[in-house]
Amino acid sequence: MDKVKFLDLGMQPIANRFLTSSQIDNEFLYNLSVGFDQESCLVTNMDYVKPALMFNRDYAYRGSMSKTMRDHFLATSNILKKHLQYNPKVLEIGSNDGVFLKNWNPFHTFAVEPCGNFANETNSMGYKTYCKFWDKELSEEILQDTGPLDLVFAANCICHMPDLDSAFSAVANILNKDGLFVFEDPSLASMVNINSYDQIYDEHAHVFSVTALQNILNRHNLSIVKVDNLDVHGGSNRIWATLNTTNIDNSVNDSIEFEKIIGLHRYSTFVEFANRVHNSKESLLRILRNCKTYNKKVISYGATSKSTTVFNYCGIGPDLIEYITDTTPEKQNKYSPGMHIPIVSPEEGFDESVDFAFLGAWNFAKEIKNKEQNFGGKFITHVPTVRFI
Ligand code: TMP
Repeated sequence: MDKVKFLDLGMQPIANRFLTSSQIDNEFLYNLSVGFDQESCLVTNMDYVKPALMFNRDYAYRGSMSKTMRDHFLATSNILKKHLQYNPKVLEIGSNDGVFLKNWNPFHTFAVEPCGNFANETNSMGYKTYCKFWDKELSEEILQDTGPLDLVFAANCICHMPDLDSAFSAVANILNKDGLFVFEDPSLASMVNINSYDQIYDEHAHVFSVTALQNILNRHNLSIVKVDNLDVHGGSNRIWATLNTTNIDNSVNDSIEFEKIIGLHRYSTFVEFANRVHNSKESLLRILRNCKTYNKKVISYGATSKSTTVFNYCGIGPDLIEYITDTTPEKQNKYSPGMHIPIVSPEEGFDESVDFAFLGAWNFAKEIKNKEQNFGGKFITHVPTVRFI
């Protein structure tokens, strides 16, 4: 890959590794820099963190924690079912805590999940779950058990895989000749448009444009036949790909044309993006330091992997953000990666003493605003620009 660096987000920890007090002294850190591959137009991290360091039995992110995502995967399942025969054979790669799987028949639905804690959960829910990383060897093993599949689905998972050629050739290997490969990941167009540089962290080895995906999928006889633009995770694309391409929906060319208009095929677009990221850091620090000067209590809402990038890039620690609230039991009473801000439950920490809450989970802003109508303070966000809301 001929990739050229455009952004350096400094030293960063494992974004989803929330720490106990005994773990904060010897934390793994790496340099998070992002580059542009001139050949495929892929935006990709300059160095990849070893997947086993991130995806293991301690993995803390639970897809089913938010109503938005539960509703989203129910709706996605209903859409997909309309395109499949009765009782299709389905595989989900990266099944997390089963938030998508639970909408499917366990007798015909299989899963791949390298995080042992979640693989155990979905195995006990009745879905045969292979606790391994997705590759050609695993696709062979599953093929022996299940035969070719009608649907391979992955959400927020393909972008985690450093070697996309290996991932896509394994999908092509297991898919029935008329089968569907559908995957959703954060969209590069959205990231550039709303300056959400916190889409970049260790797990997100790449942030995808449709243009780059088409270039890489084509190497494995897979073609994109449809693109759905989604609101989830701050703007995502749902990519529909098949081996046997007959009908290509207009959404494919529309997406690629739009990406050309906003320059996602050009390195210079990302240099400009990097400048905006730098300005965003300066503004956020200015606001938080002002709050401190006026003795205001500032916390963060949602201990997200995205906020790991923001806090470590900007150097925001407990001096500026007193603590973080999060609904996930696995994150509570721990410390945030890198900057070691304490995490507590919303019941404990989201009360009338809070003047300002930084929206770490800005991608759930709608759900949070609905839930927190009685909040007397103000939220702070950095997306698309740094401001109070
Ligand atoms: P994500 O942005 O990586 O999906 O993570 C969202 C995190 O925010 C997850 O840990 C759950 C947390 N969260 C809350 O604490 N309260 C909420 O109301 C919502 C929607 C999410």
